[in-house]
Amino acid sequence: MSALPTAVQPPEDVESDDCLLSYNYLYSPTLLQGRVAFITGGGSGIGFRIAEIFMRHGCDTVIVSRNLQRVTQAAEKLRAATGRHCLALNADVRQPQTLIDAVEESLKTFSRIDILVNNAAGNFLCPASNLSFNAFKSVLDIDTMGTFNASKILFERYFRDHGGVILNITATLSYKGSVLQVHAGSAKAAIDAMTKHLAVEWGPSKVRVNSLAPGPIVGTEGMRRLGGAAAEAMGFWNTIPLQRPGNKTEMAHGALFLASPLGSYVTGTTLVMDGGSWMTSPNHFATTLDLWSSEMKKSK
Ligand code: NAP
Ligand code: COA
Repeated sequence: MSALPTAVQPPEDVESDDCLLSYNYLYSPTLLQGRVAFITGGGSGIGFRIAEIFMRHGCDTVIVSRNLQRVTQAAEKLRAATGRHCLALNADVRQPQTLIDAVEESLKTFSRIDILVNNAAGNFLCPASNLSFNAFKSVLDIDTMGTFNASKILFERYFRDHGGVILNITATLSYKGSVLQVHAGSAKAAIDAMTKHLAVEWGPSKVRVNSLAPGPIVGTEGMRRLGGAAAEAMGFWNTIPLQRPGNKTEMAHGALFLASPLGSYVTGTTLVMDGGSWMTSPNHFATTLDLWSSEMKKSK
C-alpha cells in the first residue's frame, strides 16, 4: 500500500471471507473484554469482519445466517485467528421463531448478550418497473423486518433488563434516490427511521441504537452485486471525495466505536462511512445505463 497521509490511510484488509493476516491495534485490545455480540449475517463480508474486530478486542460472538455451513466455517476461522469464543447458529431473520431459538441458545452458552448487529441484508440492481411485487417485499422482509424482529426479540429477552447496544448496518442509497435501488433504498431508509424511534423509546432502558451506513466496500457481495467491477472500469472511484472505495476493516472500526464505551453518549444517529461518496455520486444513470449494463456483463 502506498504511503498515504495517516488521516486517510486505510487499515490492512483481506478481500476474501478470511481473517486479517496481521492487525495493528488503534484502540485498547480490551475494549470489548467480557462482552458478547450477536451478529446477523456474520458469516461473510462486512459482518464477518465486524465479528473478527470485535473478537480481537476481547468480545465473544454469535454469528447467525440461513446457511449453517457458512457460519460454521466462518466461526472456525474466527476462533483460530482470535482465540475467542464464536457460536455459529442457523436463523432466518424473516422468521422470528428461528431468531428466538438462536437468542435462547446464545444466552444458554454465554449467559449474556451486550451487542446486536443487524447486518443481514439482500440486494441486487433492478429497475423499479422490472421489480416484481415479491422482489420488493423480499428485500423489505430481510432488511427492515429482519432488523425489527431481531431488535424486538433481543430487547424483550435481555436488553430491557440489562441494557445493550443495537447497531443497524444501513446504506446511503435513499439520500439522493439512487436509480435501480428503490427496494434496498426504501428498506434501509426505514431502518434509519427505526434507529431513531427505538433510540428514543429504549433510551430509558439504557439501550443505545445507531446506524452505520457504508459506501462501496471492496471484497463484499454487495460490491460484486452492485457493479463494483464496472465502477472500477469506469473510473468511478475518482468521483468519490476520498477517491477510493472503503474496506471491511474500516467499517468494523466504525462498528467498534458505536458498539463500545467509546460511543457511550451516541444514540439515534447514523454514522456514514463512505469517503464522502453519496454527496458526489450520480444517482441517475439514464444516459450511462447502457454502458453500465455492458460493463456489468463484461465483469461477470
Ligand atoms: P453479504 O456478505 O452478502 O452479507 C449479507 C449476509 O446476510 C450474508 O452473510 C447472508 O448469509 C445473510 N443473510 C441474508 N439474508 C438473510 C436472512 N434472511 N436471514 C439471516 N441472514 C441472512 O454482504 P455485504 O456486502 O457484506 O453486506 C453486509 C451489510 O452491509 C448489508 O446490510 C448491506 O446492505 C450493507 N452494505 C454493504 C455495502 C457494500 O459495499 N458491500 C454498501 C452499503 C451497505 P446467508 O446467505 O447464509 O443467510
Ligand atoms: N433482479 C430482480 N429480481 C430478483 C433478483 C434480481 N437480481 N433476484 C431475486 N429477485 C426476485 C425473485 O425473482 C423473486 O421474485 P418473484 O417471486 O416475483 O419471482 C424475489 O426476488 C425473491 O427471490 P428469491 O430468490 O425467492 O428470494 P430469497 O429469499 O431466496 O433471496 C435475495 C433473497 C433475492 C435478496 C437473494 O439475492 C439473497 O439471498 N441475498 C443475500 C445476499 C446479498 O444480497 N448480499 C448483498 C447485500 S448488500
